[in-house]
Amino acid sequence: MRTPSARIVGIGHHVPDRIVTNDDLARLMDTSDEWIRERTGIRERRFVDEDTSCTDLAEAAARRALDDAGWKADEIEFILFATLSPDLYFPGNGVLLQHQLGIGPVGALDLRTQCTGFVYALATADAYIRSGMYDRILVVGAEVHSRGLSLSDEGRDTAVLFGDGAGAVCVEAFEDPAWSLGSQERARAAGSRLLGHALHGEGAHALDLCVRKPGSGDSPFIAPEQIQAGDTAPSMNGREVFRNAVRRFPEVIQEVLEPLAITPDEIGYLVPHQANARITEAVRDRLGIPPEKVASNIHRYGNTTAASIPIALSEAVAEGRVGRGDLVCLAAFGAGFTWAASLLRY
Ligand code: UT7
Repeated sequence: MRTPSARIVGIGHHVPDRIVTNDDLARLMDTSDEWIRERTGIRERRFVDEDTSCTDLAEAAARRALDDAGWKADEIEFILFATLSPDLYFPGNGVLLQHQLGIGPVGALDLRTQCTGFVYALATADAYIRSGMYDRILVVGAEVHSRGLSLSDEGRDTAVLFGDGAGAVCVEAFEDPAWSLGSQERARAAGSRLLGHALHGEGAHALDLCVRKPGSGDSPFIAPEQIQAGDTAPSMNGREVFRNAVRRFPEVIQEVLEPLAITPDEIGYLVPHQANARITEAVRDRLGIPPEKVASNIHRYGNTTAASIPIALSEAVAEGRVGRGDLVCLAAFGAGFTWAASLLRY
């Protein structure tokens, strides 16, 4: 009988060259470097130039992940693309990436769970692989926020938070020598493998963080007055998001650890979605994990939504903070509300 497990065999990220500092934003709206740094930890973020799309960022990240894995692009059997800022309203970015990579007509699925998009996508790749449906899946998280923000006094509460970027991983099936062990022993066995996931959604909070237009929920689909009113930019109940985030992050991390009898101090490296440095600190303190074991790059990139976890993991791997076989936990909270975590041996 075939007994496949899934493992990450390649990773890469790409951010645009253009750095936008807090002072640059303060020239466009009533804000300050001090306010942004103190409330969020962000110092700068990257914005695309006018010729670059979300799919372009994804392609650059994907090509790096392919190189790292030693895969040729045409070995990809399926694409999972997490984004809330697709190039087109439809079709999704997965097919655009398939085309730009110049590969055959493989399946391509977009995931719209915002900040948790990459974790949902990784869990989906794991399930497809374990079911035997695919052996080689490209998983991408990419965002171009800069074109959707209201860079004005009215939009300042969200415009200062977000940035552009992309990250990608290659996920591969392998015959797992630890397959016959119980799940707790398997989680402790040497080698790379995805171990478990927890995914949640709670639509009662949908309007606490959303972009209302364009949308078919009410009429008109989109009108000039709605654009003027800022309905195409994110609107957020920041305090409600914050309050729920600091509760759900630790909860969902415990949820992936407990069935495997792993305690938070055993996590080799935690990669939380980069929403706010204060949220990350609260999560760290709640779980008793020291700062050197927790990814934090929000000061350089802001919140890149579905791209934030693969960018942070890719940097941690490149800088030697995560090595092969290390126990890594990924966790995210965001619009939906959705929250999710994955546990893996890298
Ligand atoms: O991936 C999930 C995405 N989102 C998040 O994780 C965000 C979670 N929430 C947060 O991180 C925080 O709520 C924020 C950083 C967004 C805001 O911090 P806060 O401490 O909750 O501030 P606030 O919204 O209560 O606003 C405090 C003050 C207000 O002025 P008044 O009413 O006290 O006079 C705002 O109008 O700060 C004002 N303000 C700003 N001032 C300067 C709001 N945005 C800005 C700004 N610059 N950009």
